Amino acid sequence: MISVSNLVKEFEVDDGSKVAVDGISFDLAEGEFFTLLGPSGCGKTTTLRSIAGLEKPTSGTISIDGRKVFEDRVLVPANRRELGMVFQSYAVWPHMSVFDNVAFPLTVAKERLTKTAIRKRVHETLELVDLGGLEDRMSTQLSGGQQQRLSVARALVRQPKLLLLDEPLSNLDAKLRERMRTELRVIQQRVGITTLFVTHDQLEALSMSDRVAVMNDGHIEQVGEPQEVYHDPATAFVAHFIGGANMFEGVVESIESDGSAVINTELGPILGRGLHGLQVGGKAVAAIHLEDVQLTTDAASAATRNNVFDGTITLSLFNGPSINYIVRIGPLEIEAQLGGYDAYENGTQVKVVFPKRFIRILSEDNAAAEIAKEDKADQ
Ligand SMILES: Nc1ncnc2c1ncn2[C@@H]1O[C@H](COP(=O)(O)OP(=O)(O)O)[C@@H](O)[C@H]1O
Ligand SMILES: [Mg+2]
Repeated sequence: MISVSNLVKEFEVDDGSKVAVDGISFDLAEGEFFTLLGPSGCGKTTTLRSIAGLEKPTSGTISIDGRKVFEDRVLVPANRRELGMVFQSYAVWPHMSVFDNVAFPLTVAKERLTKTAIRKRVHETLELVDLGGLEDRMSTQLSGGQQQRLSVARALVRQPKLLLLDEPLSNLDAKLRERMRTELRVIQQRVGITTLFVTHDQLEALSMSDRVAVMNDGHIEQVGEPQEVYHDPATAFVAHFIGGANMFEGVVESIESDGSAVINTELGPILGRGLHGLQVGGKAVAAIHLEDVQLTTDAASAATRNNVFDGTITLSLFNGPSINYIVRIGPLEIEAQLGGYDAYENGTQVKVVFPKRFIRILSEDNAAAEIAKEDKADQ
């Protein structure tokens, strides 16, 4: 449906040029909800704007629905790419009614529709986003969530082939944001429209997408289904960025024929699943999600396990469904997330268990090393 190949975008800046997008490639299938996820400044918006035709790439190719819209000598203008867009500042037109907001893109379209046809199309589109019956309201009389859906209706009314969404939820308050995740996904599936979504929020990306591309500094680190990038990160950067894992740096001590590996860390040796390109003696990190860490006061049962460390509870944060514990192990602090009915007081001595199947051992990369350093500095 969309195909992006070796896309590069350099910006001229005062002291030379800045590579915002550094040769990325990805494809979207028909009807797919695909997300570009990455930290601020990694090139998500630039990629989206290049696809939209609002930015002229330096090189690469972009096709939409089998048609080249960008290549060496091809540059199809934005208004002929048949796409709908919603940005972070989704501003609906305040001086217009709901009807007029959605009808406007049709009245300026090249293809002239009759008044009756416009009325019908606007009505159908408003039904799709659950705003049927509100045609005559002024847009400013809508709630935040309704205004958000109105901006989606406006993007959909010309029946584009592709929907582009750039952080459309990030201006909303937490509660509404959570609800809009579900609503946007429901609307997208109802319409069946191919969607490219951009966010820096990993929860949004994981919960809404068919597939996620994790971006870092202008390139793509991994493309996969949400479960895949969460459980089987391809790089240390992905492990760190997705789902706030505990990370331990170290050196690979051994790699077994069954794929398991041992890494020597500040805590001592940790045994886990070895992933992708490990080398004995090479720098690596062990990563484990907060919810996979186990805590117990039963020393005898812990003694039968791998990766057992003595820890002390230093802080607990009750979240409702779960409790997050900060646990000091020797020189380090780790975080564990347990069901909301477990309860350990501060100062409790516990055995901390990292089950082998939940430890992912990945070769260290510079980006992840940088982040780990920043995390340490924050502590
Ligand atoms: N018009 C521009 N001129 C110069 N640099 C830009 C311009 N737009 C974006 N950049 C730079 O390109 C990089 C990627 O920006 P952007 O695509 O907006 O990232 P994201 O959307 O992931 O936060 C950033 O370093 C940003 O400062
Ligand atoms: Mg952006």
